Amino acid sequence: MNVLLVTPASAGSHKGNRVTALRWAKILRELRHHVVVAGAYRAGKWDLLVALHARKSHAALVEFQTQHPGVPAVIALTGTDLYEDAAASPEAHDAQARASRLVVLQPLGAEALPAPLRWKARAILQSVPRIERRAPSADAFEVCVLGHLRDVKDPLRTAEAARLVPAHSRLRVLHAGEALTPKWAERARAEMAENPRYRWLGALSRAEALELLARSRLLVVTSRSEGGANVISEALAAGVPVVSSRIDGSVGLLGADHPGYFPAGDTRALAALLQRCEEEPRFLDELTTRGARLAPLFDRASERAAWQQLLDELSGAFQRDVAAGLDARPRHLSCRYFYDPAGSRLFEEICALPEYYLTRAERQLLEDHAPKIVAKVPAGVALVELGSGSAVKTRLIIDALLRRQPRLRYLPIDISPAALQHSARELERDYPALDLEPIAAEYEAGLRALDERLPAQPRLILWLGSNIGNLDRDQAGRFLATVRARMTAHDRLLVGVDLRKARAVLEPAYDDAAGVTARFNRNLLERINRELGGQFDPLAFAHRAHYDERLGRVEMYLVSTRAQEVPVRALGRTYAFAAGEALHTENSYKYSPEEIDAVARAAGLSVEARWLDREGRFCECLLKP
Ligand code: AVI
Repeated sequence: MNVLLVTPASAGSHKGNRVTALRWAKILRELRHHVVVAGAYRAGKWDLLVALHARKSHAALVEFQTQHPGVPAVIALTGTDLYEDAAASPEAHDAQARASRLVVLQPLGAEALPAPLRWKARAILQSVPRIERRAPSADAFEVCVLGHLRDVKDPLRTAEAARLVPAHSRLRVLHAGEALTPKWAERARAEMAENPRYRWLGALSRAEALELLARSRLLVVTSRSEGGANVISEALAAGVPVVSSRIDGSVGLLGADHPGYFPAGDTRALAALLQRCEEEPRFLDELTTRGARLAPLFDRASERAAWQQLLDELSGAFQRDVAAGLDARPRHLSCRYFYDPAGSRLFEEICALPEYYLTRAERQLLEDHAPKIVAKVPAGVALVELGSGSAVKTRLIIDALLRRQPRLRYLPIDISPAALQHSARELERDYPALDLEPIAAEYEAGLRALDERLPAQPRLILWLGSNIGNLDRDQAGRFLATVRARMTAHDRLLVGVDLRKARAVLEPAYDDAAGVTARFNRNLLERINRELGGQFDPLAFAHRAHYDERLGRVEMYLVSTRAQEVPVRALGRTYAFAAGEALHTENSYKYSPEEIDAVARAAGLSVEARWLDREGRFCECLLKP
């Protein structure tokens, strides 16, 4: 694609937006797109606009959309445009409404948007290079504040807090950042003259600022509102603990249970927190360890994968697949499109339904057999999980492994950074012995990343939840073969497979009495309405689940309850459905033990052991190369 990347920050500026724009340009080029970075709209043959800051890029966006109607435009909400301007500025509001997608820099960002716009938001965490930690000063407890001096950053709060700590404290505040108004420069100088604990260093180069960060005992963020401060990611990458005002931008990055928050603007609370960091090494260590666990979320591979996913969406894969599926006879849609945020929530509900036995059967099986499963894998394994989602069942395997080994590296691979971050937080809270290294990527890219991260360590790879069932039998064989290609003789792959069984059990599992699966199925039509301007009446399509015993699969359909015509704006077409016409939306394959052997064998794997739940419904298979 030809991408125009507009950033309001001028060339040569150290402002966060400029740094972000240049990094994104690099990532987009790595993804083999052609990128031009500009300060305003520039004429050209563009396939995509990426613009930072809703209000400041409004004019560029309007011009772009006038010159290139229908071409996607992504607006990145980098901070004030998310939390302040949008309410006050009609331009920011209009830019948010016009954009095809809104990038936010931390997962909580979407919640600051007006409800009708939230579906457009995609979180892309900013990556930072690893930074070498430096020895801190021995004769003072030096903390740093990095950020330009302007009202929203509450820039002198740390200096004021430093006046309140006891006289014996060795606290010193080093503050780097340009004063954006003469008044702020004056105030910073006045503070320095009166407060021996405070030094304002003025604007530093990026390298100097990182050097300062790397030798600080703490980073202090005092902002009153923030989109997801880049300095926080930098501090985590450098192993420097963070103390921050409790604002969404920081909570989205550090987690709600981070112990280093104080209420924005509260000098006393900040002073108490700084004193505690200085006087309680245990507390400072805890802040450091928590930060270190989050660091992998901010690596370049995760940021690149998030961009890849967004560009896939914008490149119209959904649109093309929907167009092809509605033109085919019989008509079909791919089940991979079920899992937008609404669909993912409905799937969680399905997993708790009385009829949907799969999740419970697999959980019970793991409760009964996890120790036997892990007894089959070499000592000292690392745990990898494909499509980890909420990682609830994984805990049973983690428990069993941690009974055998003192520490465990856990590398969940999931395409959704939000899901990863959420589950990582909870696991981190509950398992101090876990070294978490989430990888936000497609399975194959994630598996490739493993070679770098675990060159010599044996791995137990989990692929649970009957996810294999949503591939047809050939696709399943091919996918297992790609996993096999990345395995060494010591690695094992544990696959959760749903078994063939009576129609009377299978059909209700996919057509529950409460109608949750029906809503999950119809959400596909709602997604077409939301993303492609479709005008489906979801209730004019009936949900059907049918077990084809010969093929060993449950098929899901949406059946038109009457003759109807449905326009889909983005496709420029109206689709006619006859009464009773079916749209095929999913296959869920069930396996016999022989079929499992066959698919494994075709992929160069063999079944080393298998375990069933007590009622023989579900099977966990341990595969080895
Ligand atoms: C995700 N996958 C394994 C589910 C299944 O059972 O095939 C998806 C699902 N479809 C309807 N209910 C659940």
